Amino acid sequence: MAVFEEDYRPISYSQTTLTELMIPAYANFGGKIHGGILLSLMDKVAYACASKHAGNYCVTVSVDNVDFLQPVEVGEMVSMKASVNYVGKTSMVIGIRVIAEDFRQGLVKHTNTSYFTMVAKDDEGKPTQVPGLMLETREDVRRYLEAIRRKELKGVYKFELDNVRTNLSVEADLPKLKNERCGLTTELKMKLI
Ligand SMILES: CC(C)(COP(=O)(O)OP(=O)(O)OC[C@H]1O[C@@H](n2cnc3c(N)ncnc32)[C@H](O)[C@@H]1OP(=O)(O)O)[C@@H](O)C(=O)NCCC(=O)NCCS
Repeated sequence: MAVFEEDYRPISYSQTTLTELMIPAYANFGGKIHGGILLSLMDKVAYACASKHAGNYCVTVSVDNVDFLQPVEVGEMVSMKASVNYVGKTSMVIGIRVIAEDFRQGLVKHTNTSYFTMVAKDDEGKPTQVPGLMLETREDVRRYLEAIRRKELKGVYKFELDNVRTNLSVEADLPKLKNERCGLTTELKMKLI
């Protein structure tokens, strides 16, 4: 059948783990690791995983679910495991699970799981088709289906947000600020009310 003639690559082919020691230069003023350092490392591992699957240069298009659940400390070893969760025509969703290990205390904590959408580009910089994804386990199928659902929900969210932006009226929605922790200058109140 035609569908099997296409080039499929298993998830294991491009699965990539990046491990890095958190040095003092990565810390913020509070002594914890900067979120931006972790984002930059996630972008790197997403690129490595995506470009290996695609066999091409890739760019980051979108980043979802970056919620740092626990702080990362100086001296901890951070590991980021990246796998292709889903492929479209030219895009791929790379799931990245981040853990931080404290070897002295023997502790391992899950800090976040995030999803990077990457697009493969050809030599002219145009989006180019990526190989299909060969699913080998039940978990691979579950992740793929979850990625489809996430994509659908993103579409709904974008539609709703565009609606809010189009229909938002500062004057009509002003009462919503009643219980918010913001104030209006007298000058602004006179303009709006
Ligand atoms: C993302 C980009 C490639 C889209 O280009 P385009 O000419 O609009 O191409 P398309 O509309 O065909 O989109 C290409 C793919 O990206 C996907 N895509 C585009 N915008 C997206 C978004 N916001 N979220 C998720 N996927 C997106 C499309 O769904 C499509 O996927 P598919 O081929 O698997 O169906 C282009 O806007 C770009 O190069 N952006 C800059 C990316 C970059 O440089 N990142 C580095 C950070 S500076």
